Amino acid sequence: MADMTRLSGREKWATKIGLILAMAGNAIGLGNFLRFPVQAAENGGGAFMIPYLIALIFIGIPLMWVEWAMGRYGGSVLGHGTTPGIFYGMTGRKKWAKILGAIGLWIPMVVAIYYIYVESWTLGYAIKFAMKAVPKIKAVEGLSQEEYLKPFKEFLGEYLGAKGKGLYKPTFAYIVFLITFAINYYILYRGVVKGIEAFAKKAMPLLYIMAIILLVRVFMLETPKGSAVEGLGFLWTPDFSALKKPEVWIAAAGQVFFTLSLGFSAIVAYASYIDRNDDIALSGLTTTALNEFAEVILGGSIAIPAAVAFFGVAGTVSVAKSGAFSLGFVSLPAIFVNTPGGMFLGFLWFFLLFFAGLTSSIAITQPFITFLQDDFGLPRKKAVSLTMLLIFIVVQFVIFIPGVLDEMDLWAGTIMLVLFALVEIVIFFWMFGADKAWEEMNRGGIIQIPRFFYYITKYVTPIFLIVLFVVFMKDYIPKSLANTSKEVMLARGLMIGLFILFSVLALKAKDHKEVEE
Ligand code: ALA
Repeated sequence: MADMTRLSGREKWATKIGLILAMAGNAIGLGNFLRFPVQAAENGGGAFMIPYLIALIFIGIPLMWVEWAMGRYGGSVLGHGTTPGIFYGMTGRKKWAKILGAIGLWIPMVVAIYYIYVESWTLGYAIKFAMKAVPKIKAVEGLSQEEYLKPFKEFLGEYLGAKGKGLYKPTFAYIVFLITFAINYYILYRGVVKGIEAFAKKAMPLLYIMAIILLVRVFMLETPKGSAVEGLGFLWTPDFSALKKPEVWIAAAGQVFFTLSLGFSAIVAYASYIDRNDDIALSGLTTTALNEFAEVILGGSIAIPAAVAFFGVAGTVSVAKSGAFSLGFVSLPAIFVNTPGGMFLGFLWFFLLFFAGLTSSIAITQPFITFLQDDFGLPRKKAVSLTMLLIFIVVQFVIFIPGVLDEMDLWAGTIMLVLFALVEIVIFFWMFGADKAWEEMNRGGIIQIPRFFYYITKYVTPIFLIVLFVVFMKDYIPKSLANTSKEVMLARGLMIGLFILFSVLALKAKDHKEVEE
């Protein structure tokens, strides 16, 4: 018998459009507008796009359906919207499955901790542009690229308090962080329908409008160095030689994971609020399409073309290589301040990033809230408050100790995503059963997923993921472990502590029994 109290107590998305926009908001984030252009530029533009599109088809789209299906099954049949309960139910109640499921609480929590902080920078920059309190660069001619970007490089350093030994000064930036944190808290506190869904319905159309305005303005940029259109040429001229480079594959696949929020449990948790017989086949595909439009069309047509117009292709690549935040936080503002209406453009750029970030940060904070509600029976508001308290405590280390953020991003935001996605596929397609899984993916579908994807998901995706993980083991992991600075060790200690906490909680959850339909 279904445990009706547990199942009926779960919220459901109120509207189809609300669900799609919330899912699109979940996926579309800083990854689309900040991370994608940097990854693409660093990895050769058109050279990056081929592995990217292949990874999208063989990893991104199948995993998107898998996560929607697992989430809906978890929410509507098992009464659990997160992976400890879902894995437990799908493996025939194996205890170890709860520990593996705890990884699905750990990844989104660690990412949420640093993501909200980076998101707060975008709000801070938007405010600075609205107040016209940013460096003004008068002359362009005669300045080298280095000289031209220097004021904004210093501005970023100052903004983050990085001046003088990295000790943070809790002034403007900290206050903006508190505001960002409070906004996230408020939306989540209001609940899935009144908070997340209501916000997505307003924020997502606005996000697209802001991005389109910026795109049009960027294409009007013309400088003696070049034009924005050359930036498109850089991104869209295929270069097949890059297919031989493992690092380009890793970067491309990593970007597909990050941008689609796959392996974060965020899609799973959102999907757990869908009705048992509602479509996921078309909805999952629509979410992917909305995200890819925002990434390759909008995200790909703002930062790179603007930078190419000002600095040329070689200059843009060197900016991208100089740091993950250089393109978005240094070169773009430096370009905007020197164009007519630049203060408004700068504001628009950072406000766009803020909205994109916000709709994703609430999504990656949601899994732990869902877990506390489903597995410990906590009321929503209490679950939100406890989750936010945990984030608030750990984020202080990210804010005050430089180096913690990068280490967390490497493990949670890059390496573990791949491993966790592999676990999801193995449990869903191999243990729960490929035919049952396929039936779940197609159940209530407005479209029928082409049979081709059955084989892709069962064989090709896991092999692809195993190969990626082996490359990580060979290259990334030993290199990363070689760094044993105090900051890095602290970050690792925090991450291990969180994992132990979540594993214990997952094992302690008393409600992990499989519920019959
Ligand atoms: N998918 C989210 C992003 O792209 C996490 O930022």
